[in-house]
Amino acid sequence: MYLTKEEEEIMNGEAGETLRQAIEILVALGDIYGADRLIPIKSAQIAGVSYKTIGDAGLEWISDLEGQVKVPAILNPAGMDLEDWEKLRISTEFAEKQKAIVQAYKKLGIRCECTCTPYTLEGFFVGYGDHLAWSESSAISYANSVIGARTNREGGPSALSAALLGKTANYGLHLEENRVPEVSISVESPLKESDYGALGYVAGKLIGSKVPIFQLKGKPKADELKALGAAMAASGAVALYHVKGITPDACRMNFEDPEENIVIERSQLDEVYESRGKGGKEPELITIGCPHCSASELKKAAELLKGKTVSKETWIFTSRELRKRYPEYIKAIEESGAKVVCDTCMVVSPATNRYSCVMVNSGKAFAYVPGMCGAESVYGDMEACIEKATDGEKKAGGFH
Ligand code: F3S
Repeated sequence: MYLTKEEEEIMNGEAGETLRQAIEILVALGDIYGADRLIPIKSAQIAGVSYKTIGDAGLEWISDLEGQVKVPAILNPAGMDLEDWEKLRISTEFAEKQKAIVQAYKKLGIRCECTCTPYTLEGFFVGYGDHLAWSESSAISYANSVIGARTNREGGPSALSAALLGKTANYGLHLEENRVPEVSISVESPLKESDYGALGYVAGKLIGSKVPIFQLKGKPKADELKALGAAMAASGAVALYHVKGITPDACRMNFEDPEENIVIERSQLDEVYESRGKGGKEPELITIGCPHCSASELKKAAELLKGKTVSKETWIFTSRELRKRYPEYIKAIEESGAKVVCDTCMVVSPATNRYSCVMVNSGKAFAYVPGMCGAESVYGDMEACIEKATDGEKKAGGFH
């Protein structure tokens, strides 16, 4: 791999131990995957934030690092709401460790708004063709597929290394030739909302890490594409997908149809909705917002909950910035007894582990909750989740 004189000096430790370690990680990855050089990145998004997932070893590693990031960098969800961790009954011991992790990242100049939807935040603009080093799988999928930016599936340490250097190794999805679709997926039945999460869940299992191009009926909205990519990245390892006539690479790059073609039937999606864990339990906890809710998803949740009272524990996850931007939606949701929670999610928070069955409207959460939280997961659209949360109380009003 070619290194500039300055990069050689960093490699030799002339810019300090933290940068030496950072470039060593990137060069090792570049050598494994055949990168020719390091390329500048526009931003980094760093996973490995929850104390639940990184533990004391992770906290120690981050705390030992020094210096400042060279590009805008932001954190993935942590294990708790950083301003109100008691809302989900997080222990003081966990909260202290979690605060220490976030402080250690903050010291490096990283923005501590912990979200998997950084592309919705002010001042974190990402455009077509931008090179990034992001490490949360749904954010990666959205950036690559819906925005047309370029990022590999970075791990937490490699994204942090890239942020500290302002560069990443030039391989994988940074190269146009690796963004070509390898399999075509056709869906004949019309889809809406959580159908896209169910489709992603089914497709990810079938194609693993291949790049698919979808042929869909209708025009999916941004939130639906977000759900599709998040689920495919969880049940499989898809980091980039295209939708014919919709996503930016598919519109600009004039792809030939791949030889492999899969047809996904409506009945396969219905199986996701009907699937129950071995115990066949009734949901005790309802969660919405994986990936974190957008403004329109918050609005819809507020409309569905307005004037009702939840009879089951109900958590709605979003970024702190969107919580602040839409107080009227938050008020309507919280008046129902549902909790709007920021900085964390149902998968990376230890709070979910207290429940034995969780209802979700996300294909990603549906895939991860059993393994990461030890609970059965049940899938439904947002209406079904709220109906379950409120025992079917009738809707009272809407927002205009
Ligand atoms: Fe985001 Fe957590 Fe889902 S990080 S994509 S809400 S598992």
